[in-house]
Amino acid sequence: MNRIGVLTSGGDAPGMNAAIRAVVRCGLDCGMEVYGIERGYEGLLDGDFRLMDRYSVGDIMHRGGTVLKSARSARFMEDKWVDHAAGVLKTYGVEGLVIIGGDGTFRGGLELAKRGITVMGIPGTIDNDLGYTDFTIGFDTAVTTVLDAISKLRDTSSSHNRTTIVEVMGRQCGDIALFSGLAGGAEYVLVPEKELDLNALCVKIMDGMRKGKLHSIIIKAEGSPIESNELVKYVQDHTGKDTKLVVLSYLQRGGSPTLNDRNLGTLCGAKAVDLLHNDSPSKAIGMVDNHIISVELEDALHMKREFKEEMYRLIDVLSK
Ligand code: F6P
Repeated sequence: MNRIGVLTSGGDAPGMNAAIRAVVRCGLDCGMEVYGIERGYEGLLDGDFRLMDRYSVGDIMHRGGTVLKSARSARFMEDKWVDHAAGVLKTYGVEGLVIIGGDGTFRGGLELAKRGITVMGIPGTIDNDLGYTDFTIGFDTAVTTVLDAISKLRDTSSSHNRTTIVEVMGRQCGDIALFSGLAGGAEYVLVPEKELDLNALCVKIMDGMRKGKLHSIIIKAEGSPIESNELVKYVQDHTGKDTKLVVLSYLQRGGSPTLNDRNLGTLCGAKAVDLLHNDSPSKAIGMVDNHIISVELEDALHMKREFKEEMYRLIDVLSK
């Protein structure tokens, strides 16, 4: 394979730049030409390609976001536009495409693979919602950001004897809430994978108060089945305790990537190029038990993420 492309799509995630850098530099090292495609599938449809050299990816490793920009493409949901995109790639002579993004990005990649493009999927999303890999690029940085926020919120929450509800990202997957809840010492986490039990939540807060706890930190994933303001009202009404909401929102997507995200991005990028160089069919790349792995692209989309019941239970035990 002589010519490959790389794009980032969907929500940006810290560590995407490390993956882009590895794809470009490893690709060049194998004697390939590497095209950077701007704004994900939108840029692909518009032919927004630029030839990358070693220095085009210099000084980007420590930066959050993605130097290739990202987008969510409504056009790419339609067959006629996917046909068009495959045509654009063929016009440029690009036979292999590295896509960095989440499940929507992978679904788009699978459609391109059906049209004869070899596609390598790299998991880039802070949500950690792809079941075939232990971690996705950006997750570690996002949780680190959430932890920093929790530490700051503790200061003010305890000074005022309040309950603070922190809404974090995660539409289908509660991992950001779960990991930050465990490492941040939260009293309770609400995640999309568990049934809503508002009574248990309020009992937990009241129990804490009886035992002399000054305040409570509750982490709520955005995908848990209750609107956050409604939750605040319910908790305040049923515990009688001053309750505040903090929505961390896009703050979680920014910032310099952690060691784990830089290395995951770099190793996945290198693996994608290695597979393309060795004429592998389309794959999804990830990390399982600290090893870089690859699975069929289609299978990757069907593997269900197992809920970490043990972590969920531990949060309860440790915060009694
Ligand atoms: O990247 C995933 C995610 O952060 C979700 O948790 C969130 O709901 C979504 O992206 C929002 O992204 P946008 O508004 O950029 O589409």
